[in-house]
Amino acid sequence: MIIFYGPVPCEHNKETELSSDLNDLDLKSAYTAVSDTYKGTGDIHAACREMRDKSPIFVGDFIKQFGVPTNAGLQQGTRPTFALFRYHDVMNVLRDATTYTNSFILEGLGAAFSDGLFILGMDGEAHRRVRALLQPAFMPDTVNKWRDTMETLIRKDFLEPLVPQKKADLMEFGLYFPIRIMYALMGFPTQDTDKYKKYAAWTLAMVGGNQIDPTKVEEARRNAGTAAKMLYDSIMEVVVARRAAGSQGDDLIGRLLRAEYEGEGLDDHQVVTFVRSLLPAAGETTTRTLGSVLTLLFNTPGTLERIKADRSLVPKLIDETIRYEPLATFKVREVAKDVEFYGVKIPKGSFVQCLVVSANHDGEIFENPDVFDIDRKQKPSFGFGFGPHMCIGQFVAKVEIACAINSILDLFPNIRLDPDMPPPVIEGAQLRGASHVHVIWD
Ligand code: HEM
Repeated sequence: MIIFYGPVPCEHNKETELSSDLNDLDLKSAYTAVSDTYKGTGDIHAACREMRDKSPIFVGDFIKQFGVPTNAGLQQGTRPTFALFRYHDVMNVLRDATTYTNSFILEGLGAAFSDGLFILGMDGEAHRRVRALLQPAFMPDTVNKWRDTMETLIRKDFLEPLVPQKKADLMEFGLYFPIRIMYALMGFPTQDTDKYKKYAAWTLAMVGGNQIDPTKVEEARRNAGTAAKMLYDSIMEVVVARRAAGSQGDDLIGRLLRAEYEGEGLDDHQVVTFVRSLLPAAGETTTRTLGSVLTLLFNTPGTLERIKADRSLVPKLIDETIRYEPLATFKVREVAKDVEFYGVKIPKGSFVQCLVVSANHDGEIFENPDVFDIDRKQKPSFGFGFGPHMCIGQFVAKVEIACAINSILDLFPNIRLDPDMPPPVIEGAQLRGASHVHVIWD
């Protein structure tokens, strides 16, 4: 996502001074910095509930009150802005990528960060072609081939070593395992785990390039640019080596090296740029969502017992979490032609904030929407987006999280919340999740 962020400056063709701060940046600090940036203040569920009851449209920048950046990035406040809260309105905007476009995300970021190859910032035919290029690596058939690898990795490398200690903060595990899995799926050499943690930290530094506090903007943007450059160089090493070795493999890099784009093969620069633009979407999104899944598993009476007894309920637990507590609370689109909602004219060039977190709790669609109910008859919700930009990695994420939950329940007997530690809480105005999930077992 994450890909939901806005302009990040980077000039990979110019010499960029490598920051020693960034070289020392560890994944945990980088993750916490992003959490702090996108946490904001206020109760977004309550604010949305009030809006749904009072008015289906907000004229102005609804998100501003929470003190978080939007993916309109530094352009916030520069254009007329509107917000929508109801299920069908959010669905209609997200599904119509002709009227509601994304390329504003590339403005300022432009060729520098992505050479225009940043999938979430693409529209129309260009987006469709890139999607077709990347999609095969994320299809269920491909991802299912990885299921055993994922499960073995989660158990052997992460959870089995924890068993004797009989207590843990599961978010420590949650921070590292998606990175490990994603880099393997993308086709990086599997032995370089320390390198991936570094890459993941740099990726988060890129994501942290959006700041609303004016005193932090300059440093954050400089770090984001340097991190993007460092990441570029590191991925380039892998891509060059893979091409020299014959561009084999079913992983993403192998597929991109052999793929055609606009009638021609991709050069190394294009492959690197694509891979780099995927990385922000692939790690902390899964970490935060796992935190919410675990929190709702432990905090909702009766759920843990039921799921322990019947593992076929795990996918329902995940789907209901993604409805009830979507990771990203809103999406922004630019309006490509004049439109009207509820008699309010929205001129071309405006921003529309789609409150996903509100649409997922719309009582017209979901019975008792504020009840967490894994038995609910599933209807489309927007935690993975909707329409042409819907999350390409959703199947990967769901399989990863399901493997994690099953392995935790298998390996930690009588697992329960640690009574000596604060219970987990899901928080955040823009990105939601739990910072800690302290558990004990026998
Ligand atoms: C639970 C974890 C995840 C959540 C909640 C999530 C959520 C989302 C959402 C909401 C969007 C739509 C953005 C928009 O419409 O503005 C999106 C797009 C995207 N996600 Fe995910 N994501 C997750 C995991 C992943 C993973 C593991 C990958 C793998 C690389 C990934 C790759 C992408 C990409 C490439 C896009 C952009 C698609 C496009 O523009 O066509 N995501 N994600």
